[in-house]
Amino acid sequence: MIGVFDSGYGGLTILKQIREQLPEYDYIYLGDNARAPYGTRSFECIYRYTLEAVRFLQQQGCSLIILACNTASAKALRTIQQHDINPDELRVLGVIRPTVEVVPSLTLTKHVGVLATPGTVASDSYRIELEKQDDSLIVTQLACPMWVPLIEAGEHKSDGAQYFIRKYVAQIIERDPLIDTLLLGCTHYPLIQNAINAELAAARRRDCRTIAQGEIVAHSLKDYLFRHPEIEQKLQKSGECTYLTTDDSDKFADAATLFLGAHVRAEHVEL
Ligand code: DGL
Repeated sequence: MIGVFDSGYGGLTILKQIREQLPEYDYIYLGDNARAPYGTRSFECIYRYTLEAVRFLQQQGCSLIILACNTASAKALRTIQQHDINPDELRVLGVIRPTVEVVPSLTLTKHVGVLATPGTVASDSYRIELEKQDDSLIVTQLACPMWVPLIEAGEHKSDGAQYFIRKYVAQIIERDPLIDTLLLGCTHYPLIQNAINAELAAARRRDCRTIAQGEIVAHSLKDYLFRHPEIEQKLQKSGECTYLTTDDSDKFADAATLFLGAHVRAEHVEL
């Protein structure tokens, strides 16, 4: 089985694209909604929570896990890969590597903006990894601490949310007016991508393109499975998806149904 993990609803934006490109596999989606957001937490805390989720998903039968969360990918992935898992039994992949492989080819000005959680920005992972791909890139990062809490609370279409969307968009394009590629470096942000684009248009920056990660990650996973038939063969293929949350299952199911556009049932679990 393939496990897809996020602190909350954000990973659904990745799961949706993965299932579109790879519908034949069985998936378990786990949202740690009870402890979201992760983005403002310490390294130790994010690592511990992510490891608990990884162990839980392995016990459920996952042999491949996607950390569909930039914060967990930035703060916990490497330690987990190096110290906590046996790669013969389990592979854990993140969302930062596939994203930085694609982004440099999308910018004409070579000025890239990254909108992400405070944790992801503090890790500096995007700047380091993007500059490794292309050392002529100018990377500007901005932490958007209010966006995930608003999305988790279902308030992302409210007037209050619009205020914070306008605020962070204005800040990043002001910091570097030459940015033409704005990476949504948090898997929650596609849920407000239209509103971000509307703010860019209002600021007369239609030329500045926002990039969500879903398709990029899905494409990279497809390629990974093609290159690793020994892992691919272990995966169950009946096209099923189970949704698990550490918070209220009805609340999760309602939000997920709305977002995925198909009825979803969810189960509450304790990690
Ligand atoms: N969706 C997660 C990410 O991509 C983080 C959200 C959070 O702060 O919990 O970074």
